[in-house]
Amino acid sequence: MLKDEPHFSRRLAAVSESKTTRIFAQAQEMRRQGREIISLAVGEPDFETPMPIIAATRQALTAQHTRYGPVPGEPALRERLAQAFDGYTADNILVTNGAKQALYSLFQVLCDPGDEVILAKPCWVSFTEQIVLAGGRPVLVETGEAFELDPERIRRAITPRTRAILINSPNNPTGAVYKIEAIMATADLAAERGLYLISDEAYHAYTFGRPHMPALVVSPDRARVVTVRSFSKHYNMTGFRLGYVAADKSVIQALSRLQSHTTGNVCTFAQHGALAALEMDQGIVAERCAELQRRRDLALARTRELFPCTAGRGAFYLFPDVRGRLRNGETSADLAARLLDQAGVALVPGEAFHGPGHIRISFGTGPETLTRAFDKIREVL
Ligand SMILES: Cc1ncc(COP(=O)(O)O)c(C=O)c1O
Repeated sequence: MLKDEPHFSRRLAAVSESKTTRIFAQAQEMRRQGREIISLAVGEPDFETPMPIIAATRQALTAQHTRYGPVPGEPALRERLAQAFDGYTADNILVTNGAKQALYSLFQVLCDPGDEVILAKPCWVSFTEQIVLAGGRPVLVETGEAFELDPERIRRAITPRTRAILINSPNNPTGAVYKIEAIMATADLAAERGLYLISDEAYHAYTFGRPHMPALVVSPDRARVVTVRSFSKHYNMTGFRLGYVAADKSVIQALSRLQSHTTGNVCTFAQHGALAALEMDQGIVAERCAELQRRRDLALARTRELFPCTAGRGAFYLFPDVRGRLRNGETSADLAARLLDQAGVALVPGEAFHGPGHIRISFGTGPETLTRAFDKIREVL
């Protein structure tokens, strides 16, 4: 190694940069160069943050809520969040800098080196990297037909090193909403083997037809269920960076201990905005969910003109199988690069989610943009 070559930790070398943020940056750069780029790669709908949230945040700023606060979160917000979980109090809630930090911290407090976390693939980009950063080992199991959770495969993947099972419904990137029976069977399995069941419910507000089933509701061992949720997608507050963990007090205390040395409290005035989000008329969330369903219908119809595709039942993603459209030797990452270059449409290749042969289409953008993007993709293909 050259003397002044920068050297970083082995820990960092074990993980790669988030592929979704990389595509986002690439599309931005092409835009800067004057290209018209339509992004179907983003992990957020184009809806504005509702005004009651903005007003409460502004008011909190004016009232000088700009200082350090309690590490686990503002008491009023924790209390309000706890109301959504039967039997929970403020002590069962930790407010985090997005669900992303919540999950990162969770793996840090749960995993010793070599501990295994079982999760189904395809899966969100950061899960595996965060587990590796904690010294753990992600154990990926296949999903069943239509990306359904398969508890039998999870059972077979359990070893003496298994520490936790992680599920994500509604799912990023597939849009799957798991059947209640599968969630129940997985919760029973985790309880039977004394494993933590981490339930990432970042998209729970957005389901189309099949209702969301919180793992906590069906688990026979509530003390080992860890629910992770977020204000990001639910209330169109991605930039606020607000998520939370709802779990047994022992888990919350462990996470708070870690958070006291990492970020401290989450932005104080942003938490006032979050409280307003919970207290405002929730009709706007329902309206936005209905709008996303209309976009899903449009995107699904257009996608199916080009590729076989399972109907996503939640979140705002489709995950079509593009293998039939690949040229000789081409991968889905190559196809995504070709579509960005020739069609000017940014999509995330399945490789980012341990789902090669697929691409992720976000229908967070409006119908006109979606239509234009699909016209361009169709032209290139
Ligand atoms: C499945 C899943 N979990 C967690 C997150 C993190 O969300 P945030 O940190 O914005 O709350 C995302 C964001 O895309 C996600 O898709």
